[in-house]
Amino acid sequence: MSASVSARGPVATYAHRGSSGMAPENTAAAFERAIAEGADCIETDVQLSADGELVIIHDVTLPRTTDARLAFADRAPWNVHDFTLAELRKLDAGGWYDDDFTGQHILTFDELLDLLGDRVGLNLELKSPAANPGLAHTVAARLRRRRDRPRPLIVGSFDEQALRDFHAQLPDVPVALIAYDVPASGKLTDLAEWVFSVNPDIRRLRAEDVARVIEAGMAVVPWTADSPELWRWAIDAGAEGMITNYPYALTTMLHGR
Ligand code: G3P
Ligand code: CA
Repeated sequence: MSASVSARGPVATYAHRGSSGMAPENTAAAFERAIAEGADCIETDVQLSADGELVIIHDVTLPRTTDARLAFADRAPWNVHDFTLAELRKLDAGGWYDDDFTGQHILTFDELLDLLGDRVGLNLELKSPAANPGLAHTVAARLRRRRDRPRPLIVGSFDEQALRDFHAQLPDVPVALIAYDVPASGKLTDLAEWVFSVNPDIRRLRAEDVARVIEAGMAVVPWTADSPELWRWAIDAGAEGMITNYPYALTTMLHGR
């Protein structure tokens, strides 16, 4: 598995939306902090603006992580895909978390890639493809144009069809199927033909599920695990990576300081 950030070696730390336990999620501040904290990979979410630009944000609506209600009071329900990039640019994406982060803004995908450079890997989630038609194709087209991809680069989604669409466009980029529950073993055998990892919900994960995924030939990278007890349990079960809001604590447990 050349794309693995662990390759059955040291367990890899995936910073969920950046170091989102310590800084506003999916902002430059959260990504820079995760890199400084020793994360192996940044996990983040990409969607489309109204004018077809790739933007980095988790929710399909803006109010939880921006000041959209204030800035665009008459635009309820503030769907991301109803706003142009120029409008999204006007939003503050840090003040909701803490005044110290006021001024952070929603990044474009290109800005994210420029920020990461070759310093850290990227696990990019195609977020809510049903609300973002053409997302898989647009991400693949943008990556095809860029020569400087993060290493490793893994593209994930809860939406298997979107993942298949992306894989058909860029088969050299490993893909991760994000799931609440690990699929049945017959399905895992099929997935192993083209999927690199299964990323299951840690809250519902059982050790036998991890074993089934590994037996099928894929890696397991659970989300979102934030306690040493969960980390130790998942590592003992065979997880190759861990998606966490607290990368500093995880890298400290794994590697010391
Ligand atoms: O990549 C797994 C995880 O990020 C999926 O959940 O809601 O945080 O995007 P969510
Ligand atoms: Ca995500």
